[in-house]
Amino acid sequence: MSKIISVVGARPNFMKVAPIARALTNHIYEHLIVHTGQHYDYNLSDSFFVDLELPKPDYFLGVGSGSHSEQTAKIMVEFEKILIKEQPNLVIVVGDVNSTIACGLTSVKMGIKLAHIEAGLRSFDKSMPEEVNRIATDSIADYFFVTEESGLINLKKMGADENNTFFVGNTMIDSLIFALPKIVQSKILERLNLTKKNFVLTTLHRPSNVDNYEKLSMFLDIFNYISQFAKIVLPIHPRTRKNLIEFGLIEKFEQISNLIITEPLSYLDFIRLMQDSKFVMTDSGGIQEESTFLDVPCLTLRNSTERPITIELGTNLLINPEYTNIVKSISSVLENPTKRISIPPLWDGHSAERIVNIIQEKILKFT
Ligand code: UD1
Repeated sequence: MSKIISVVGARPNFMKVAPIARALTNHIYEHLIVHTGQHYDYNLSDSFFVDLELPKPDYFLGVGSGSHSEQTAKIMVEFEKILIKEQPNLVIVVGDVNSTIACGLTSVKMGIKLAHIEAGLRSFDKSMPEEVNRIATDSIADYFFVTEESGLINLKKMGADENNTFFVGNTMIDSLIFALPKIVQSKILERLNLTKKNFVLTTLHRPSNVDNYEKLSMFLDIFNYISQFAKIVLPIHPRTRKNLIEFGLIEKFEQISNLIITEPLSYLDFIRLMQDSKFVMTDSGGIQEESTFLDVPCLTLRNSTERPITIELGTNLLINPEYTNIVKSISSVLENPTKRISIPPLWDGHSAERIVNIIQEKILKFT
């Protein structure tokens, strides 16, 4: 029986792998899940297994935090042991986190075929660690599963084998569609005393936004500004909290009257908030896609996006994160909320099934 290993490590990975695990349940292939432990807090990791009905990992590498090199190296050392023991026929990595490149590199060095899900995305900004992970993973992968057309173009330019490049849609949207019926049960609005479309949902965790005092002070001013007319919910990432404490800004944030700071939220609570918010303000990658699907305006506080389809067809606006730009775009989104033109092609809840069919028909056909 052929064996497939899928890798998860950090928060955005779980929703991309869950639908694949579902499509591979009781399949002709043995499917194992390896969790590197890059994220280990309950709300950044375990709660997603529950909400997404993702099977418990077969292996937990417990690697934890560290510098990029330290984290990547530790994952490689631990993952190699699993590969030696399990001898899989295919390794699947998703997205662009350190676990993606670490496990991808370990696999190809051992001659094991590598599939990259969400291949081909590019922000063209190498100062983002994720961009380096994307370029490096795509340059060594054997099979490329692509979420949007820009991915096909970028892979072609890179010289990726077109016969092994497959436009399949977005497995993260598979998870969103799977979770929608459960989202109505979330009590998060009541818990935070919010009413529909009367609050702004925001997330901030990119090093470029939260690793320096000036940027965080600027966001303090932005939150003060928004709090004059709406409540703001900020589920805070550990990196952001740590920096607010370090820079002596945490009290100032906590004193903003309409700002509700929460711990990172479960998937279902977060999606419920996104769906019911006036607009979303974020520096995340995945939220740009989820808000596009849900038709909720999204202000992306970055200079580039690797997901241009969310701007072309969706509700996403890219904002260079400076005070005046942000205030201007908030006014414009309030006066004239961006509307989705259409749901991006193949974001229909069936991407994982397409991936598994391709694996069966083209990749692991003869093994
Ligand atoms: C990682 C990904 C990023 C993704 C983000 C989602 C990389 C390079 N970055 O960034 O693409 O958008 O996850 O959250 O892979 N920490 C905890 N508990 C945890 C995990 C981390 O407290 O469970 C703290 C640690 O202090 C750690 C810091 O958060 O040093 C950052 O974690 P790390 O995994 O290095 O990167 P993220 O910023 O989460």
